[in-house]
Amino acid sequence: MEKNKEIVLSGIRPTGFLHLGNYFGALKNWARMQYEYECYFFIADWHSLTTHADTSELSLITRRLVAELIGGGLDPEKCTIYAQSDIPEIPELYLYLNMLAYKGELEKTVTFKEKARRQPDNINAGLLTYPVLQAADILIHRCHYVPVGKDQEQHIEMTRNFAERFNHRYGDVFPVPKAFSYGKDLVKILSLDGSGKMSKSEQQMNTVYLNDDDELIRKKIMKARTDQGPTEPNSTKPEYIQGLFTLLGLVSSQEVLTKFENDFNLCQIRYGDMKKQLADDLIRFIAPIRNKAAVLQNDPAEIDRILTMGAEKARKSAESTLVEVRKALGFRHL
Ligand code: TRP
Repeated sequence: MEKNKEIVLSGIRPTGFLHLGNYFGALKNWARMQYEYECYFFIADWHSLTTHADTSELSLITRRLVAELIGGGLDPEKCTIYAQSDIPEIPELYLYLNMLAYKGELEKTVTFKEKARRQPDNINAGLLTYPVLQAADILIHRCHYVPVGKDQEQHIEMTRNFAERFNHRYGDVFPVPKAFSYGKDLVKILSLDGSGKMSKSEQQMNTVYLNDDDELIRKKIMKARTDQGPTEPNSTKPEYIQGLFTLLGLVSSQEVLTKFENDFNLCQIRYGDMKKQLADDLIRFIAPIRNKAAVLQNDPAEIDRILTMGAEKARKSAESTLVEVRKALGFRHL
C-alpha cells in the first residue's frame, strides 16, 4: 500500500441485505474513496451482537455482505475489507478506551436511548458501550476520516473525545478523526411509500435490495406510491413522488429525467410510464451488481481468501497502533 495517503475507515453491521439507500448513501462513495485514500472497510459483526443475539446466520450474512460490497464496486486489492471479529487488537483498545468513557455520556447517546427503548428487556452493557467499540474500530488504524451518515455523527464526536482524552492523558498517539461528509453528493433514498428512509433489516416491498431479481424490482417499482398527478403547473412534489424522481435522476439518462420533470410541471405526467421507465433503468443498473455478488457468493473459497487477506492487512496496522498505545500506557510489551 502506498505511504502517506490519509486513512479512511467505515463499517457496516451485518443485519440484513444491502439496498439502494446503502448503495447511494455509502457504498458508491466508498468505492470512489478507495482510489484516493488508504481505506479500511469492515463488517461490524461484534456490534451486531448488541441488538441481534442470535448468531446462527451471522457468518452467512457477513459473507454475503462482503460479496455485495465487492459487487457494488469495492476492490479487495485496492482497499482492505475485513470482519471486525478477525481483529483481536480491537477489543484490547476497547478495554483501554472504556476507562476514558463516562457512564453519563454513554447514557446520553441518542442511538443508545433509541435502542434501549426498542429492546427494554435487553439493555446490555454492550449496547451502552457501543460507541466505545466503534471508537476502537476507528482509532485502531489511527484513521483520519470516517465516511458516515448523519445518524452516526454523534459516535464520531465521541470518538474524537476519547482520542483527545487518551492523547492528553498518555501522550499523542491518535490523530483526531473527522466524520467525512459527501456534501452535495449525498442523496437521501426514500422508501417507496415515501415514509422515511429505505431501511435494511427486513424484507419489504418498499425497499429495493441489491439482490432483488429483475421481476421483483419491477414489481416493487410498479407498486410504489403515486397519486393522480398535480393539478397546478409547477407544483411542489410530494415526498413519495420526489423519491421516485430522485431514483430516476440516479439511474436514468438526463433526457428521461428532463422529460418526466417537464411532464410533471405541465400536469401531463403519467406515473405508469414513468415507473415503467424507472423499473427498466433500475434493472439495468442493479443487474451487474447483483450478478457480480452472486458469482462471488458461489465461490466461498474466494470470499475466504479476501477476508483472510483483509484481516492480515488490518491486523498489521492494528498491531502497530497497539504497540504505541501500550507504550504510552506504560505496559511492557513482549
Ligand atoms: N455504528 C455503525 C452503523 O450502525 C457501524 C459501525 C461500527 C461503524 N463501527 C464503525 C461505522 C466504525 C463507522 C466506523 O452504521
